[in-house]
Amino acid sequence: MGNTALVTDASSVIGAELARLHAAKGGDLVLVARREKALNDLKSELEKAYGIKATVIAADLAHPDSAEKIFTLTEAAGIQIDVLINNAGFGGHGKFYKRDLAKDQAIMQVNMVSLVNLTHLYLQGMVSRNSGKILHVASTAGFIPGPLQAVYYATKAFVVSFSQAIAQELSGTNVTSTVLCPGAVVTGFVEADDLNNPHSAIEMYYRLYFNEDIRV
Ligand SMILES: NC(=O)c1ccc[n+]([C@@H]2O[C@H](COP(=O)([O-])OP(=O)(O)OC[C@H]3O[C@@H](n4cnc5c(N)ncnc54)[C@H](OP(=O)(O)O)[C@@H]3O)[C@@H](O)[C@H]2O)c1
Repeated sequence: MGNTALVTDASSVIGAELARLHAAKGGDLVLVARREKALNDLKSELEKAYGIKATVIAADLAHPDSAEKIFTLTEAAGIQIDVLINNAGFGGHGKFYKRDLAKDQAIMQVNMVSLVNLTHLYLQGMVSRNSGKILHVASTAGFIPGPLQAVYYATKAFVVSFSQAIAQELSGTNVTSTVLCPGAVVTGFVEADDLNNPHSAIEMYYRLYFNEDIRV
């Protein structure tokens, strides 16, 4: 098996750390996110520290055709993806009916649709080689509804379900689908789209459970 991992949102704290772990084991990388400079900084760091090769692809996974573009670029460069790390994901805060629908559509596109598209595109090669690994980064948010982050939590439930179903379909092959469900991690996540609100989703859930009035 080759050992090249494609990491989406490698500019994120969790994505960069997953990339570092892979590089530390001598694996090459394809680093994907919108912020090209952050990716190039990570590329320099990892190539210097571990002697691996990292390729940067600047892409916005909120664009419907982004997965196809990323796949076309890796194919054209002759890069075989042995490990797909679907880490990209972000959220937003507020009552669903008050939120800008376009923001929630972008969350669904990044967290679910592009994840499914990338999985479909790269999984076929993995199955035909009978070798490969897919890691989906969901969240503990995938196990409960999330008042005031309704769409984010629902997308993570989708990722948990999708990953587990694919894992079952892959039984009997040497290809795996695994879902990682972190709890709260200190990253830039809360700064994105007003998640810095003092009312955390967990607190909201607790208060809803006890029928408390919620003002946002
Ligand atoms: N932090 C937590 O507490 C926590 C807990 C459980 C699960 N997770 C999951 O872990 C993963 C990484 O989260 P993180 O907290 O490490 O992230 P982060 O450090 O807050 O970074 C946010 C990421 O979102 C990306 N992003 C924002 N809008 C985007 C868009 N429209 N299209 C593409 N990318 C966009 C940014 O990438 P660019 O701007 O460079 O494109 C950036 O890499 C996510 O799937 C998240 O749901 C996080």
